[in-house]
Parts: sequence; structure tokens; C-alpha cells
Amino acid sequence: MTIRPLDPADAEAVERITRLSPEAADWPMESYRGLPAWVAESDGRVLGLLVARIAADEMEILNLAVEPASRRRGAGTALVDAAVEHGRRTGAARVFLEVRESNLVAQRFYERRGFAVTGRRLRYYRQPEEDALLMAREVAPAP
Ligand SMILES: CC(C)(COP(=O)(O)OP(=O)(O)OC[C@H]1O[C@@H](n2cnc3c(N)ncnc32)[C@H](O)[C@@H]1OP(=O)(O)O)[C@@H](O)C(=O)NCCC(=O)NCCS
Repeated sequence: MTIRPLDPADAEAVERITRLSPEAADWPMESYRGLPAWVAESDGRVLGLLVARIAADEMEILNLAVEPASRRRGAGTALVDAAVEHGRRTGAARVFLEVRESNLVAQRFYERRGFAVTGRRLRYYRQPEEDALLMAREVAPAP
């Protein structure tokens, strides 16, 4: 499996993966233009994606999804590690994200990657309405 930057030609794969992942955001591909974003690929097939944004010294993970049939094989970990490494190289001191309070799988996953719950955003999500938990981890500066 390899991690590479998201390309406009990945639009169909991104649409497929987010359609199969109701916990993830299904924003249109155009909204990712100019943002740091990666895909996990195996044998030419795109298995997952991560989209982030950087503001000042913070990186936010905006979207992360791995197709259901390819989960528990390290793709999510590889995507988050690539994003955190990019953040480190570009001077991010902290990476954070919002996750639905009911999305325990993603919370376990992020905890394994060193994130901890730091707050709550009331009624952050719609359809269905739900609070977001804010999770964050510090990023050690590049040597
Ligand atoms: C969260 C998600 C991206 C994880 O992707 P993944 O490729 O399956 O993750 P990994 O294989 O790297 O998992 C790493 C570790 O996370 C934890 N983890 C992942 N899925 C888990 C699950 N279903 N139950 C419990 N722990 C889980 C485990 O500790 C796992 O390590 P292990 O497989 O050695 O036990 C994936 O489940 C997904 O796409 N979910 C739907 C979309 C979503 O929730 N996105 C996040 C929105 S904020």
C-alpha cells in the first residue's frame, strides 16, 4: 500500500469511498482543491482518503475514510501518519479533528494514533444532530 497526494482523477474513487462511509463527510471533490490531501492506494485501487487544512500552527483533519472492505489493514494509520508528518514539516504544533460522539470506532482509532479528547462542540453535526468531540495531539517539531 502506498500513500500519495490526492489527484483530481481520484474523484470517482473518493465519491465511492465516502458513499460507503456514512460517518465521513461527503463534500464535493472541488472543495478539496488547494488543501493538503492524500489517498491510500494498493494495486492501483484507491482504498482511502484524508483531507486536512493548516491554519497558523494548527492542522485540522477535515475528512478521513477507508472503504469498508479494506479497513483494519493499516490504511487509516498510514494516512494519519502521512498527514501528521506533513504537519510536522510545515510547522504545525498541533493536529486536531472533530468526530461524532457516537463514532466510537473512529475515537478508538484516533486514540491509538496518540489523540485525546480535548473538548466538545455542541450540536456540531446535522442529520442527525449530534455533538462533536474535539480530539487533538501535539506534534513534535522536525529535528
Ligand atoms: C476510522 C477509519 C478511517 C480507520 O481506518 P482503518 O484503515 O480501518 O484503520 P487501521 O487499520 O489503521 O486501524 C488502526 C487501529 O485503530 C483501531 N481500530 C480501527 N478500527 C477499529 C474498530 N472497528 N474497532 C476497534 N478499533 C478499531 C485498532 O486499534 C486498529 O489497530 P488493529 O487493527 O491492529 O487492532 C475507518 O474505520 C473508517 O473509514 N471509518 C468510517 C469513516 C470515519 O469514521 N471517519 C472518521 C470521521 S472523523
